[in-house]
Amino acid sequence: MSMASMKKLLGVVLFALLCNFFIKQCEGGNVSYDHRTLVINGQRRILISGSIHYPRSTPEMWPDLIQKSKDGGLDVIETYVFWDNHEPVQGQYYFEERFDLVRFVKTVQQAGLFVHLRIGPYACAEWNYGGFPIWLHFIPGIELRTDNNPFKKEMQRFTTKIVDMMKEEQLFASQGGPIILCQIENEYELVEDYYGEPGHSYVKWAASMAVGLNTGVPWVMCRQGDAPDPIINTCNGFYCDGFVPNSIYKPALWTENYVGWFQSFGGRVPYRPVEDLAFSVARFFETGGALQNYYMYHGGTNFGRTAGGPFVATSYDYDAPIDEYGIVREPKWSHLKELHKAIKLCETALVNSDPVHLDLGPQLEAHMYYMESGTCAAFLANINDTSDFNVTFNGNTYSLPAWSVSILPDCNNVIFNTAKIATQSTLVQSKLINKVYETIGTNWKWYNEAIGIWGNNSLTNTGLLEQIFTTEDSSDYLWYTISVEITDNEPLPILHVESLGHALHVFVNKKFAGTGSGYDEYSNITLEKSIILNPGKNTLDLLSITVGLENFGGFYDAIGAGITGPITLKGLKNGTQDLSMQEWTYQIGLEGEQLGLYLRNDIKNTNWNSGPNPPKNQSMIWYKTEFEAPDGNNPVALDLVSMGKGHAWVNGHSIGRYWPAFLSPENGCNTTCDYRGSYDQYKCVKNCGQPSQKLYHVPRSWIQPTGNVLVLLEEIGGDPTKITFLTRSVESLCARVSESFPSPIDSWEMIMKDGLSSNKPELSLHCPEGQLISSIKFASFGTPQGQCGNFEHGECNAIDTRSIIEEICIGRRSCSVPVSVKRLGDPCPGMDKTLAVQAICN
Ligand code: GAL
Repeated sequence: MSMASMKKLLGVVLFALLCNFFIKQCEGGNVSYDHRTLVINGQRRILISGSIHYPRSTPEMWPDLIQKSKDGGLDVIETYVFWDNHEPVQGQYYFEERFDLVRFVKTVQQAGLFVHLRIGPYACAEWNYGGFPIWLHFIPGIELRTDNNPFKKEMQRFTTKIVDMMKEEQLFASQGGPIILCQIENEYELVEDYYGEPGHSYVKWAASMAVGLNTGVPWVMCRQGDAPDPIINTCNGFYCDGFVPNSIYKPALWTENYVGWFQSFGGRVPYRPVEDLAFSVARFFETGGALQNYYMYHGGTNFGRTAGGPFVATSYDYDAPIDEYGIVREPKWSHLKELHKAIKLCETALVNSDPVHLDLGPQLEAHMYYMESGTCAAFLANINDTSDFNVTFNGNTYSLPAWSVSILPDCNNVIFNTAKIATQSTLVQSKLINKVYETIGTNWKWYNEAIGIWGNNSLTNTGLLEQIFTTEDSSDYLWYTISVEITDNEPLPILHVESLGHALHVFVNKKFAGTGSGYDEYSNITLEKSIILNPGKNTLDLLSITVGLENFGGFYDAIGAGITGPITLKGLKNGTQDLSMQEWTYQIGLEGEQLGLYLRNDIKNTNWNSGPNPPKNQSMIWYKTEFEAPDGNNPVALDLVSMGKGHAWVNGHSIGRYWPAFLSPENGCNTTCDYRGSYDQYKCVKNCGQPSQKLYHVPRSWIQPTGNVLVLLEEIGGDPTKITFLTRSVESLCARVSESFPSPIDSWEMIMKDGLSSNKPELSLHCPEGQLISSIKFASFGTPQGQCGNFEHGECNAIDTRSIIEEICIGRRSCSVPVSVKRLGDPCPGMDKTLAVQAICN
């Protein structure tokens, strides 16, 4: 027995002793834990969880997303709670529509899944200001996320509010509800040292405050090595197989396994190969893990101004198993589903024993879970990132591809290998198509936004003001305006502006004169621009724009934004003129925002211009048009690639910020990404040199059959007539199964009963709901080559394959075909043959 196993065993004994001693704490509710697992209603469980943040989709989408999560093999849905939107004004709560938390939890409950509620109330999550309401900042004497009374008072009040809401609706597992876990704070360990001693005492306070709320379910603190008992400290990361909780009687829980990474405006698009993701999950359960959560299972969309930042894009797709639009992403979703089935087949052995580690060679290992009853499960791992190996285990030889784990639910037969995507006959790949609707609005309205001061509520200040605490984040926009007097015969000056970010547009005498922005995490801007000033008075209007408030880091809440200077005019006859400490006039927000131009119907009967030819490439302009709903029920996207930077609304709903003019870097992308070897968010990226986000999700439930209103606020210039709508759907299904592949996991029980001779590989196809297989684009039994969408016949090909498949599949939503010479003929006896099919769903 290894040291780790001995420690675990000691943990069991100690835990039993402690339970006898403090019988109440250990058996207090329907959810408890021991060193090995969570125990729910007396059952020790291995749990697969996935994050879906409720405001990143619509209530109309929730049931389908949750059903797809359940079908994908999830037991738990995990979400943060978003304080800023639930309490936009101190003491005024909002729990409607996308923020209807109770409805979301109940939707999960109705699907029969559990909930992990991460109350925080600090969230991080690439959410504006980390989920904190901005008004917190203005409470006298407050310091956020530390041992500070004004802050603790607010944090406790909001946490209690959420807990009470859940209790009222009987939503905790201890009350018969679905919530089995709660989280307080989030990854505080990463910033704890910045806050010194008060940081440490804050952790203790947060823990005891949470426990004092008596939810009857365990609390976790993620990435918090010093989480006080009975709070469970959990792991976050790309891998968590080495994770050991801070006490021998706590189970190993993994709260964030990144399935990809988030996208930034101006950034490349990260993705994570499913072979590596599956490897990380299998390694975790192999080495004693109890609960693993995909961050995200459905990422969704940062509607409105919810994106954090700076520069977090509107799409929060995350390369998740369910894509931004709610369509399952293949082969990710199916491969993980098969993985989950394989893990669940091991559950009895996993929850009732501790792993025994066996060394099978350098970077080769096995972990066995063995019960006295004879029940046994094993995982074989090759953690070498280049070489495949054969290993001997339990008297048999197994081939292990590099960077992979094989799962043996009976310690004998391999039912799943993390690197072999195509070995499961149920696996399909889907090919998405975007159907384009060109016919959006031929009638346009437009309105020129005021440049500079537009209202009687402007303010003046000697010197430059920080932006966030001036606007109180009521808008992305703050005008900084000054009048500059120039004498005759001055040379062309250079305007020099330094800003904390995030973007900046310069207008000289009301004309657009330049723009600048930070990049990625680096929001600071230094803009140098030669400008034309006339002799006499000139106006300088600087529009400073936030693009999502910082959500992470020590004291992130105080970083600030906007033009803090210096601002100078260089190269004048008398040298440099510093404008920084002069009197500036400020205007918060845009005139159009105040007029409610984004609403379906203007509140103030604004005089829009109208006609078929709206101005193009013009800065600071509002556009409005009507459109018909795209046909069908498929998810809808707006292609904004012809536009620059701004914000878009449909029927008054904000679909978020857009910024296709911000291209991702030319270099650094790879056409393929080797899943083998350690992954991080920089390893696999795509979309180099492209607009950083082209498509913007418009939820179906926000669109009516006719008379829909699209409004755009364009800041730098674009062509609205080139905007198109798309619907996204699965067009093709591909599957590829070889004669020698094992059976689908579903027939495992049969195999267990009848032995491997009952192994009959089959190929299955399954169109999304509402679609049927309309044609077979490709079918070959023999040695087909290529990938989904580009399959080609090989030298060996059974000529009747296509007609056989057509006969079985056409007109049906699903079909299964046995992969055997008996059914398909034998074009090349003695060779291992493969059946590859591409079918069209309609
Ligand atoms: C984690 C954090 C999450 C999310 C993630 C990156 O550190 O806990 O909330 O921000 O990083 O997507």
